[in-house]
Amino acid sequence: MNKKIPGPNSKRIIDTMRKYAYDSTFVYPLVIANGHDCIIEDPDGNKFLDFTSNIGACPIGYSHPDIMEVLAEYSTNGTHKIAGQDFYSKEHADLAEIISTIIPRNFKAFFINSGAEAVENSIKIAYRKMGPLPGVSCLGAFHGRTLGALSFTSSRPVHKYNFPEIPVKRIKFCTNDNDPEINALESLLKENKVAFILTEVIQGEGGYYVASKKFIRNLRKYATQYGVPLILDEVQSGLGHTGKWWAFEHYGVTPDIMSTAKALQVGAAIYNKKFEPSDRSALSSTWGGGSRIDMAVGTKTIHVIKRDKLLENATKMGNILKRGLQELVGKKGVVDVRGLGLMIGLEFDTKIRREKKIVKLFRNGLLTLGAGQKSLRIIPPLVITKEQVEQGLSIMNQVLSRD
Ligand SMILES: Cc1ncc(COP(=O)(O)O)c(C=O)c1O
Repeated sequence: MNKKIPGPNSKRIIDTMRKYAYDSTFVYPLVIANGHDCIIEDPDGNKFLDFTSNIGACPIGYSHPDIMEVLAEYSTNGTHKIAGQDFYSKEHADLAEIISTIIPRNFKAFFINSGAEAVENSIKIAYRKMGPLPGVSCLGAFHGRTLGALSFTSSRPVHKYNFPEIPVKRIKFCTNDNDPEINALESLLKENKVAFILTEVIQGEGGYYVASKKFIRNLRKYATQYGVPLILDEVQSGLGHTGKWWAFEHYGVTPDIMSTAKALQVGAAIYNKKFEPSDRSALSSTWGGGSRIDMAVGTKTIHVIKRDKLLENATKMGNILKRGLQELVGKKGVVDVRGLGLMIGLEFDTKIRREKKIVKLFRNGLLTLGAGQKSLRIIPPLVITKEQVEQGLSIMNQVLSRD
């Protein structure tokens, strides 16, 4: 059990933030000061087991020795943040080279800062080929908050109120092969010319809903049939959280364009070469590729996931975690557990109960976050051990059994 939270050091930081910065999506008073493997420490010495991996952005945990080595290399190098689409760097080339080993053959990457920009550039690649037609996205989707990506987002009204939208047509995100709307895309494509179909394979912010196999395969089938590029957004699910490099590998399909970020440390729009814009300035940004440090950390992260067989660990630990969580279904307001690998959603009967439990879990030393209306998202670092999974399950059991 942790000491007083927030302690005095955390409180000072939170008060300063509230006074001088936009009070954004903070859910509980956690100030991150340090971390080791799957443990995060606050400035008052409280420790938390991390079942969020910072929404997938810290896939190999904290203070990983390989990453610390990379960071040490840059302690005397002042050119870490460069105009990365104007000047070449070894870090950019290394990241492009290593990512080529885990993406479909004949694909190339364009690196950028964030997940929203990865999606933004993925849709620009599609528009360049197809023209300024409407795009198709799914109800409940989250693709980021820049205005282009936001147009295709629909997970929560608060993200969109009063912001203009570029043309979009929405279809249902089907989680069940027998959903009557599983073929909706076909009728839409028969009647409309569109520039692309954009979807997640597991809806992240939308609530950790896993697409049905038939739904994703249908999207692929109709996209090919009607000559429309299929863009899969792997910003949250990419780089191993589902037990495979990409969630779409569970479905036996290949996208035409894909976006990733978070775990990679930088954003990337990744495309089949046949969609590469022929004019060289079609895509760029001063911080293309992010910083040299981020690119080097991204490269090392892929290397560590391969070397330490972390995809296998994600599958194994995910199965143990899911089995443990399934025992909670039907008790204390838990109505469903779903997910792939270490990307697991636990759904409650009400939003209020979900909100209360997140805060109680935090106060008992376990970090989780919400997703969608009533779900808890669980996405621990890929390095999590069996003991840590069991510790997390035990905290969940205790917290959920109390009212
Ligand atoms: C699937 C998906 N796409 C895009 C984004 C946007 O990424 P970022 O917050 O880095 O802009 C997110 C972020 O949660 C996401 O989950």
